[in-house]
Amino acid sequence: MVRPAWFAFLCCVALGSSRGSDRPNFVFFVADDLGIGDVGCFGNDTIRTPHIDRIAAKGAKLTQHLAAAAVCTPSRSAFLTGRYPIRYGMVGTDLPLAFVQLAIPSGLPRSEVTFPQLAKAHGYRTALLGKWHLGLNCAWAGDHCHHPSNFGFDYFYGLPLTNGLDCDPDVTVTVGQYIAMLLYRHLRLWEISTTIFVAILALKYFRYIQWKTVFLLSVFGWSLVAYPHLALTNGRRLNCVIMRDDEIIEMPFNVSTITPRMTLEAVRFLEESKKEPFLLEVSYWNVHTAQLPYMEFRGRSRHGLYGDAVEEMDWSVGVVMATLERLGLTENTFVYFTSDNGGHIETGVEGGSNGIYKGGKGQGGSEGGIRMPTLVQWPRKIKPGTVVSEATSQMDIFPTVADILGTPLPQDKVIDGRNIMPLLGGAAVTSPHDVLFHYCSEYLHAVRYRPREGNVTWKAHFVSYNWDPGTTGCYSLRICRCAGQEVTYNDPPLLYDVTNDPGEDRPISDPRYPVVMGVINKAVEEHVRSLTEEEKQIGLSNFIPRPWLQECCNFPFCDCKEDVDLSSLEIGGQS
Ligand SMILES: *[C@@H]1O[C@H](CO)[C@@H](O)[C@H](O)[C@H]1NC(C)=O
Ligand SMILES: *[C@@H]1O[C@H](CO)[C@@H](O)[C@H](O)[C@H]1NC(C)=O
Ligand SMILES: *[C@@H]1O[C@H](CO)[C@@H](O)[C@H](O)[C@H]1NC(C)=O
Repeated sequence: MVRPAWFAFLCCVALGSSRGSDRPNFVFFVADDLGIGDVGCFGNDTIRTPHIDRIAAKGAKLTQHLAAAAVCTPSRSAFLTGRYPIRYGMVGTDLPLAFVQLAIPSGLPRSEVTFPQLAKAHGYRTALLGKWHLGLNCAWAGDHCHHPSNFGFDYFYGLPLTNGLDCDPDVTVTVGQYIAMLLYRHLRLWEISTTIFVAILALKYFRYIQWKTVFLLSVFGWSLVAYPHLALTNGRRLNCVIMRDDEIIEMPFNVSTITPRMTLEAVRFLEESKKEPFLLEVSYWNVHTAQLPYMEFRGRSRHGLYGDAVEEMDWSVGVVMATLERLGLTENTFVYFTSDNGGHIETGVEGGSNGIYKGGKGQGGSEGGIRMPTLVQWPRKIKPGTVVSEATSQMDIFPTVADILGTPLPQDKVIDGRNIMPLLGGAAVTSPHDVLFHYCSEYLHAVRYRPREGNVTWKAHFVSYNWDPGTTGCYSLRICRCAGQEVTYNDPPLLYDVTNDPGEDRPISDPRYPVVMGVINKAVEEHVRSLTEEEKQIGLSNFIPRPWLQECCNFPFCDCKEDVDLSSLEIGGQS
């Protein structure tokens, strides 16, 4: 029987408004510190990533997809907002390059708009599982002014900070202790406090103050010295925490179980969402130190705990993809997989490969730091086996999601990303970006230029890193710095054809140089003119945790553990 057309029309309008039947769902997988050379479909033949590779086979592989920074905090800000971190102060001047403490007032400014917020405004159910790393509190512990719930996520289960070296219970010198050591060496707090104490006693001796004041001042002076020390040497307890929405549910967390627990949360979220459109971000700790995958994965790969952690993440991606399939959601779900920055080559672990690209994590101008292993699948719009080799950016996700939702872009802000649906769907063949700026902290290190004609993408390096000889890393410092004596200011800038020389071995000096550099210099001038002065969120003061911002469960013990039953998951098994 043929249904009358008006019936079909009514049914679909009703569905469209109440359930959004035709609006796609979104799943974003974001890995941590995963290099482009760590993934099978990008050429790694010794790590097994079959589930990630399947996304490439069923959708598009983006071979020149760029992060806006080579460290987590700024890179993830740009991904969510579609804007360069420098536009809203998510940059610093020197170390640290990202947030290293939970109890600091910095974070993604509330004036920023994220793409999950766009989706939420369109009736999507949204969730963030895993790492956030964009701040938590502003004025007091529990105000949650930078919490994911203020940036479009209905549900949050995961790490407000990150999984740092501190989170490994067996590590002897933690990041916090290292910072404490540096801080105490530079600030000489013991000498300062002794001086203060002698001064207090002197005041008493000359009868300027009473014993009560001596006592109060001494306690104050002592806390000034003791608190930072206590906080920095207890990084595991204070920073390695898991929250569910607004509540701390595990402190300190057990790294090993995080990925299976997040996977379970993802399965639940998908099962509960099947009747309405949803946006899910699964943001893995893998493969950031501490490398502690679940027991089932240890010793499985050929690359130590690092490879095991990659394979654990691949298993989890497989479970999420299989759940979409089981619920009949594959066809109309936009799936995106990426990493926040390149492999951290200086850590000394058994992995972190940036393939043929030079440099890695921390080096915002180097290809290895910013060229991300990225895949997109959406069977309804993207042909299987698509390869996009043109320059695209993680900032493109914001306007791409806006386009898919049919929502206009915010008019009061510069959006640096571009809609890449035409490129993914085959309607366009050239990058929507003619220029992309590559920052290391607040410093512009390199610029990419894609002329509208021809096939070549150029990259000019204004600044280069002073790599240890024979390497593309700064091993003695553990991470390259962005300015000062650790870098070289190239005058004239080095120019590469990254289309034909992606490993950047042969700088160009022929007659094309002045033409290309002319365009690039003009673009830089224009870009710099578009920047406004913003308060910097990342800086030296981030090293010092503030007691009034420290969250704690089971006060005053700051100790709690989530009881999870993982038995419904076939951990490590094929899905
Ligand atoms: C973490 O969880 C695993 C699996 O339940 C357990 O074997 C291990 O002892 C736990 N580690 C810590 C430090 O509690
Ligand atoms: C595969 O990944 C491992 C771990 O990062 C790395 O050691 C190895 O060199 C990679 N292989 C290739 C071909 O890139
Ligand atoms: C660009 O590349 C395509 C395929 O890689 C080639 O067919 C075409 O001739 C090239 N065009 C130019 C202007 O070099």
